[in-house]
Amino acid sequence: MSVEIASESSAADIVSYFHRKAGRYDEVDQQVYWRLSDELLWSTLSGGFLDELPPDFTFLDAGGGTGRWTQRVLDAYPRARGVLVDLSPDMLAVAGTKRTGSRAERMELVQGDLGDLPAAVRDRRFDVIWNFHNVIGFVPDPAAVLSALAGLLSEDGVLVTLAPNRYHGVYFNLATGRLDAARRAAETGVSTFTDDMPPLRLFTPDELTSLYAEAGCRVDVLTGFPCAVYPARQETQLDGSSPAVADLLGDPAVFADVLAIEKQLAKAPDVAARGNNIFVAGRRRPS
Ligand SMILES: C[S@@+](CC[C@H](N)C(=O)[O-])C[C@H]1O[C@@H](n2cnc3c(N)ncnc32)[C@H](O)[C@@H]1O
Repeated sequence: MSVEIASESSAADIVSYFHRKAGRYDEVDQQVYWRLSDELLWSTLSGGFLDELPPDFTFLDAGGGTGRWTQRVLDAYPRARGVLVDLSPDMLAVAGTKRTGSRAERMELVQGDLGDLPAAVRDRRFDVIWNFHNVIGFVPDPAAVLSALAGLLSEDGVLVTLAPNRYHGVYFNLATGRLDAARRAAETGVSTFTDDMPPLRLFTPDELTSLYAEAGCRVDVLTGFPCAVYPARQETQLDGSSPAVADLLGDPAVFADVLAIEKQLAKAPDVAARGNNIFVAGRRRPS
């Protein structure tokens, strides 16, 4: 089955948007909501299938931006090596500042468009390939990009996607008084969360399952998170926290409790439809 899914943003829109964001992008690490989200993502990666790979595994961080995930994986897995591909020279410049110490020789940066895989990666194979946080929603043809990425997997390699959830996009926009954006998310699946961002394709769990099938991959894990705590307007900015989220998660003991609740819920596949983001991991089907 072919999935008719397209985004609406041009490469120039994306480069311009991340030109404005890149310098402060990593400040997201200080927002308590995103720390919760990152811990959930990390717990599905580390302790999960990353630990099952050979210690010297190779990875491709597709749309890796400032290298937050490349850095975290290289630091946790000291024999792993990775390539980060991104369209934005500004995001890559920040990633370049992390190519230091024991990471320097294991971290390769490539500027390029995932819609037309750069020559530096086209003929290589990777044990794990991930695209995190809206990457697949910004590319013009998500099906083609996922298929191209799946084609770069080594035998038994894993393709991991963290994609924005269409149902959450409807809720979030209604909760923040953006009725037109909520309607667009519901009717077309392409919308925004803020007035200054390029249009983003949002996904349902079924759409992602179909996209994986079209890319020749089975789905091993499908879930969604965070699903018990939702972001408010402040969490879509580079700094600040909404009072409700800060009040709840600001206490480290409560943060730990909420994290445990989220981890418990994330074990149920049907929670995917409630997550802010949908997480999918799967391997290529043998040909
Ligand atoms: C929201 S950021 C996420 C960055 C990183 N994955 C993370 O989780 O921190 C989305 C990234 O996707 C990149 N991107 C969007 N469209 C792209 C494309 N067609 N090819 C390569 N990178 C792209 C942007 O430049 C940006 O760095």
